[in-house]
Amino acid sequence: MIKNIVLAIDGSVHAQHAQTMAIDLASKYDAQLTLVHVLTHDHPSTEFERMAEVEHLSDSKQPRVSEKENTYSAVARFLGSTNDSKDAKESRIIVLLGEQIIDNASKSAHKAGVTSITTEILTGDYANSILEVAKKTDADVIVMGRRGLSNLKGFVTGSVSHKVSQRAECSVLTVK
Ligand SMILES: Nc1ncnc2c1ncn2[C@@H]1O[C@H](COP(=O)(O)OP(=O)(O)O)[C@@H](O)[C@H]1O
Ligand SMILES: [Mg+2]
Repeated sequence: MIKNIVLAIDGSVHAQHAQTMAIDLASKYDAQLTLVHVLTHDHPSTEFERMAEVEHLSDSKQPRVSEKENTYSAVARFLGSTNDSKDAKESRIIVLLGEQIIDNASKSAHKAGVTSITTEILTGDYANSILEVAKKTDADVIVMGRRGLSNLKGFVTGSVSHKVSQRAECSVLTVK
């Protein structure tokens, strides 16, 4: 019996596939669903763009000024009214994207009839944070994407999914 499911999401298309699977499982098993996002700290702006596009962040908040403007700069512009330094703005983008990722997933789960949803937005090592949540919630299964945002060619499995699969005490479902 599956009672507790942990879903790890990073804003990638792969994580969205994992999300669909986890929500389906949670609604069929009437399981508790814990959504985890660990704030990104090492992704180049191309990955932010992918993330923001998947989450429709820039589209929903503000139209692009021109074709040339990318998603990252659109989000940066959305936050641009403050006098924050570049680093402070980037940190706000990371938090904003993280909240959006969790919020979108939470709404989808709710829509699909999942009644018990908890959310975790954390900082730190990605895999360790996911593993800690799994332990804390006594997870039966961790659902995650086989790949994530980096899309490095030649790798079948991402480093986070690899580490979690290796170290988890429960089952891990890596969704393709
Ligand atoms: N920051 C994160 N927060 C939550 N889950 C994550 C995070 N990074 C990766 N994951 C999970 O791990 C899966 C695989 O990502 P990862 O191993 O980082 O692959 P890649 O190297 O392609 O980025 C993602 O689909 C997601 O489920
Ligand atoms: Mg990654």
